[in-house]
Amino acid sequence: MSAIPLRSRTPVAWAERVLAPENLPAFVADHAVCELQASVYALSLVGAYPDVPGLPESLSALAAEEVRHFRKVAREAKRLDASLPTKRRNWYVAALRAACRGGAEPARGLDLLLVAALIEARSHERFERLGTRVADARLARLYAELAEAEARHGPIYLDLARAHAGAPAAARRLESSSTSRRPRSRRCRGARSRSTARPEDQRVAPTPVAVSACIQRPDG
Ligand SMILES: [Fe+2]
Ligand SMILES: [Fe+2]
Repeated sequence: MSAIPLRSRTPVAWAERVLAPENLPAFVADHAVCELQASVYALSLVGAYPDVPGLPESLSALAAEEVRHFRKVAREAKRLDASLPTKRRNWYVAALRAACRGGAEPARGLDLLLVAALIEARSHERFERLGTRVADARLARLYAELAEAEARHGPIYLDLARAHAGAPAAARRLESSSTSRRPRSRRCRGARSRSTARPEDQRVAPTPVAVSACIQRPDG
């Protein structure tokens, strides 16, 4: 198990913004949907890569845990009187997926697994930050709990990436993602070409408004 590199840290201003009373209910509701998506993503990998050693067992368990997260966060959204969004586009995930290589294996699966590892690492960072800053005691406990879970999830995906493509290939891909340059455009519209994009969440640009946490832009 080794660290998953994040090239930037989430600004403190991000937490202040999403924890503002006028933003918090929508943030929690959006986060609930992110947990649901994390579960669906894990299950999609179980269906696509059943022969990777350990993958069906570990990702089906991880998916079940993400569903439990969804139920807990959705309960908090309801307490805050916020409806779960039904139409949303997650630009952060769209950009990461656009950065994934398609086509031949093991490159395709490697990227899909590394993207998940990066998302989990970012989620861990953000939940840690929220857990120490949110005034609501229930949410503080919940985010501390979620931070612990996401800290476990990132290495699971990284280990599966190694199992799928080999440790050297996984290390090279992570290294290339952490050293490549930020794109010129500051808007993330999933428009990067597959030939130039890489699975690094750090390349997603900051935006003035963002409420998502579990799967969301790193700087947004
Ligand atoms: Fe989660
Ligand atoms: Fe997770």
